[in-house]
Amino acid sequence: MAPPQKNSEAAWFGDTRIDPAEKHKLVGAVFDSVADRYDLMNDLMSGGIHRLWKNKFVGLMRPRAHKTLLDMAGGTGDIAFRYRRAAGEDTQITVADINAEMLRVGKKRAIDRGYIDGFTWNLENAEKLSFENNTFDNYSISFGLRNVPRIDDALAEAHRVLKPGGSFFCLEFSNVEKKILKKIYDGYSLRVIPRMGDVFAKDSNSYKYLVESIRKFPDRANLSRRLRKAGFDKIEATPLTGGIAAIHIGRKY
Ligand SMILES: C[S@@+](CC[C@H](N)C(=O)[O-])C[C@H]1O[C@@H](n2cnc3c(N)ncnc32)[C@H](O)[C@@H]1O
Repeated sequence: MAPPQKNSEAAWFGDTRIDPAEKHKLVGAVFDSVADRYDLMNDLMSGGIHRLWKNKFVGLMRPRAHKTLLDMAGGTGDIAFRYRRAAGEDTQITVADINAEMLRVGKKRAIDRGYIDGFTWNLENAEKLSFENNTFDNYSISFGLRNVPRIDDALAEAHRVLKPGGSFFCLEFSNVEKKILKKIYDGYSLRVIPRMGDVFAKDSNSYKYLVESIRKFPDRANLSRRLRKAGFDKIEATPLTGGIAAIHIGRKY
């Protein structure tokens, strides 16, 4: 693994410059703190829109029986559960995340839904996966890549573990281009979201990080170039809700 460059994403925790070696610890503390309130906060902050984005995202994966999924940074299971609902029980789904607390909440939600067989839950760092080459049909990462210090290592690992013919799907916050929407969105995210974090999760700092990290994430053109560099083909980037989020797709041939 190459050491991170001075100005790479690893050198930033939101808007704060950090020692890259500290980033996993700082991000870990955010998700330890928010795990129990994570799903409620997503609904409150997005007014439920994240559900529509996730539905569209999973629909594009064309889930079906025997088509395996690695849901990276899968956290509390939102993507995995949608995939399972669409693909049925004859499908292997691996939910992988670096944070044990997020996986704990995810496993509990899976049991509540009766999703036991066909699910594997793994502690994994997206930058260095424990899986063999050419293992999965689909790789998804939803609102996770932004938190990974070495994005290029994660993309290379995604490419490695996908089977030839497999597909990469990323759902992430993106860049809003329309001036009026950008103004409204900036006002809402910079002022209202940390306040909501304070009131509902007693943790404004984690939600401040969330908002700042969105602004540090590469734009659609940059991420598309990096997907190509990682070896992906047929790259697509589709903005959602005026570019507040985007779906990135790449194929491995
Ligand atoms: C915002 S949550 C997204 C959870 C879920 N995918 C969703 O869409 O609701 C981000 C997740 O990324 C995980 N994460 C952060 N850094 C990671 C890394 N290097 N490798 C794997 N997971 C990571 C966090 O632990 C957290 O569960």
